Amino acid sequence: MKTVTLSTLQAAKRAGEPFSCLTAYDASFAHAASQAGIDVLLVGDSLGMVLQGHTSTLPVTIDDICYHTRCVARGKGRSLLMADLPFMSNATLEQLMQHAGALMRAGAEMVKIEGEAWLADGIRELTRRGVPVCAHMGLTPQTVHQMGGYKVQGRDAAHAERIIEDARQLVAAGASIILLECVPASLGQAMRDAIDVPVIGIGAGPDVDGQILVMHDVLGVSLGRIPRFSRNFLADTASIEDAFRAYHEAVKARRFPAEEHSF
Ligand code: KIV
Ligand code: NA
Repeated sequence: MKTVTLSTLQAAKRAGEPFSCLTAYDASFAHAASQAGIDVLLVGDSLGMVLQGHTSTLPVTIDDICYHTRCVARGKGRSLLMADLPFMSNATLEQLMQHAGALMRAGAEMVKIEGEAWLADGIRELTRRGVPVCAHMGLTPQTVHQMGGYKVQGRDAAHAERIIEDARQLVAAGASIILLECVPASLGQAMRDAIDVPVIGIGAGPDVDGQILVMHDVLGVSLGRIPRFSRNFLADTASIEDAFRAYHEAVKARRFPAEEHSF
């Protein structure tokens, strides 16, 4: 199988072929996911919850993400490696440059950052310097306290329209991917049709360009209850690698997410 790059994902969008993404935090699981065909591996700040046991992603540091990115980079195989910029790591433009640089030196091939239109300046500067950026919109877990909990975003038409307009601005600033978390399926589809770059969804319905899940949810080993938009693929398979492959194939065949995983 060929190495996955940004061009691969752009071509997949143009061809209307969904691609698969999964979080990874170490070399062994990254290897299994890559062998199973997963296109993109994300070192997510979800590691604050699933590895460290916190109730939010806020305690995660740039050093935590760099450490796990180095681990995943050694096992990533052909998959594209994306890494999260954690809470407050972009408090200033200078910090954003330093921290994104650290992630890229650790082995990331793209960085992900949470926010809205205000991210445009940072995204422009990163893109100029050769750092591809995925903008994470909709439910942004780093703003959980401001949102008043983990809630579906963009339910009303005005909010949905604003999210799309903000995404347009971020794409104009250079964003290579938009990731949408926990939004109505109708907004996922509208976003996919509104912008030229790939749209990755988690709880954003079936009509986006790629899907992502947290690895622990796919394996049914989460601390809390498994979110509605996720699915335990290990339940019907014999090994971890088979569970990853079942997820990958379900995404490719548009069997996941189904109606019951969508809002
Ligand atoms: O940190 C993470 O795992 C994420 C995904 C849920 C998109 O940001
Ligand atoms: Na994250």
